[in-house]
Amino acid sequence: MGASFEKCCGLLSLLETEHSLPRESWRELICGHTPELQSEAALRAMAVRRRYYGNRVFLRGLIEFTNFCRNNCYYCGIRAGNSKAQRYRLTESDILAAADHGYELGFRTVVLQGGEDPAFGDDNLARIVEKLKAAHPDCAVTLSCGERPFEVYRRWKDAGADRYLLRHESADPAHYAKLHPAVQILSTRLECLRMLRELHYQVGAGFMVGSPYQTVETLAEDLTFLSEFKPEMVGIGPFIPHCDTPFGHEKAGSVDLTVYLLSLIRLALPGVLLPATTALATLDPDGRRKGLFAGANVIMPNLSPPTVREKYLLYNNKAHTGLESAESYRKLIESLAGLGFEAGPDRGDHIKEMQK
Ligand code: 5AD
Repeated sequence: MGASFEKCCGLLSLLETEHSLPRESWRELICGHTPELQSEAALRAMAVRRRYYGNRVFLRGLIEFTNFCRNNCYYCGIRAGNSKAQRYRLTESDILAAADHGYELGFRTVVLQGGEDPAFGDDNLARIVEKLKAAHPDCAVTLSCGERPFEVYRRWKDAGADRYLLRHESADPAHYAKLHPAVQILSTRLECLRMLRELHYQVGAGFMVGSPYQTVETLAEDLTFLSEFKPEMVGIGPFIPHCDTPFGHEKAGSVDLTVYLLSLIRLALPGVLLPATTALATLDPDGRRKGLFAGANVIMPNLSPPTVREKYLLYNNKAHTGLESAESYRKLIESLAGLGFEAGPDRGDHIKEMQK
């Protein structure tokens, strides 16, 4: 049995002022999840987001630059063991062209996301980051390409990278071990997050909602971790099975729970950059709007060349519409405006302290 609505509202107030909760209170808030509480949390999260960011929503142009990966995460469609995946690797000129196109459209953050692909070359990526920053000094570059040695993270930072996304996936070591082969361990992942922070990246963590073996306890651990580590960005989306993975027959995560957790994360980390993710939009055609109305403030449209887009399949039925044209960019801006949000050419950096 979850705590009463009144008790949970008290916990939301505490979260809003303290930005953290004891584990037991996180558990109560998770167990107490009802449609009514979800609406209450969303209203409060929207108000907090408005205090920090007004009605601005930030767009990130996502370039999925390689789907080769040396890892074997049990949930992920581009895992090394999936021999059915059609592998691709973009060239430097593909990536620079996609970024130029994004710039023309109005994007001021490029996110380079890929599997852990040793053949891509760490220096190759460093050179690409340098060229991106030289071509568009007013753009932020975000990297999202897994666990690397400190020296590699440093090289990429020196090349000009601003941010790094590395979801922690689960802050509970036993749960983490059920999602990954034995060579991948939570402590390595957390060490990478600490290295990224030390190098002054804006750091992103996060997890899937409803991943197999996730429990109220593991979720309470995730929320505790986020409120302590205080990442500048948090990515959460529902787990969605991919048929050619060991978790192909597991059931998908809940859209409502994802939306509710977005609100709790906004209350815990008021200035956080929080995307309404593609996975949320994949499970629910209205997912992006629901995410924004729960406190999210980032959208990451796909800028990868259309020819490779359907190959970057982390899960089945992934929405692979992108923004090829100025026309679709304009439509996105207009639909956001229709919802009361303003999205313009803006790097959209993290706000640490509230602006007076
Ligand atoms: N469902 C939802 N999200 C997934 N990811 C990987 N596989 C899936 C899946 N089947 C997420 C992971 C990873 C991010 C890039 O995508 O959390 O960190």
